[in-house]
Amino acid sequence: MDFENNSSKTDHVMTQGKSTTKSRCKIVAVDGPAASGKSSVCSAVCSKLGWNYVNTGFLYRAVAYITRQEGIDLADDSALKVLLSKFSDSLRWEPDTGKVFVGDLDITDHLYTDIAGQDASRVAKNSIVRELLLPLQRRLGTQSKYGAIVDGRDIGTVVFPDADLKVFMTASLDVRAQRRFHQLESNGQTGSQEDFDAIKASIAKRDIQDSARGEAPLKQADDALTFDTSDMNSEEAIAALVELISTKLKL
Ligand code: DC
Repeated sequence: MDFENNSSKTDHVMTQGKSTTKSRCKIVAVDGPAASGKSSVCSAVCSKLGWNYVNTGFLYRAVAYITRQEGIDLADDSALKVLLSKFSDSLRWEPDTGKVFVGDLDITDHLYTDIAGQDASRVAKNSIVRELLLPLQRRLGTQSKYGAIVDGRDIGTVVFPDADLKVFMTASLDVRAQRRFHQLESNGQTGSQEDFDAIKASIAKRDIQDSARGEAPLKQADDALTFDTSDMNSEEAIAALVELISTKLKL
């Protein structure tokens, strides 16, 4: 996979067989369930701080999209390996715009649908996929000059266990479903109570799938701070996260 600004500022070291990452830029790991506000809040906070924002979910979404397009059975490990090595050269992410390309083809619009999220959650159970994406996530996280917020499900537990700050961003299922519903409604895509119920069921299903898997499940790291956005609007959540990072990292 090709990522812009590949000049990594990271030293990867092996400690007792476990890879840890010593980064020269600050890393804030943000994990949490689907629709908890991670991407909108974290990207806005990064803009304010002049940091890089890395949304690792897009990687799983891209791999899911590619496997679906190619008709690859997720249970077929060898086909998956061949496909991933083939696409590892052509998958490209633009950090500034968040656009994702396979070769010259912009696949961004295919990645942010509900079905793409469900597909990504299924793909994310696969250990080969997780293994391949691990170094890429570390590289993306550490290429910033000052700092980066990396969001996902296993950032504080697996990808950056030595992060400078770990945050577990959450919100109640009802609030998360409401937010997703309003987001779709404002795009003219939904509106009825049945739609709301379907969205809520889909998020609940993803919560279970992401938390119950054997490989790097969604879980709060022991040293992560809980950041519950249930009673916050987006401006409040952004301000609170900026405050938290500034205080904890003494910016
Ligand atoms: O953050 P998101 O909704 O775009 O993520 C889509 C799916 O990708 C999510 O349901 C689980 C998977 N994922 C993961 O397993 N580990 C990550 N670090 C990020 C995402």
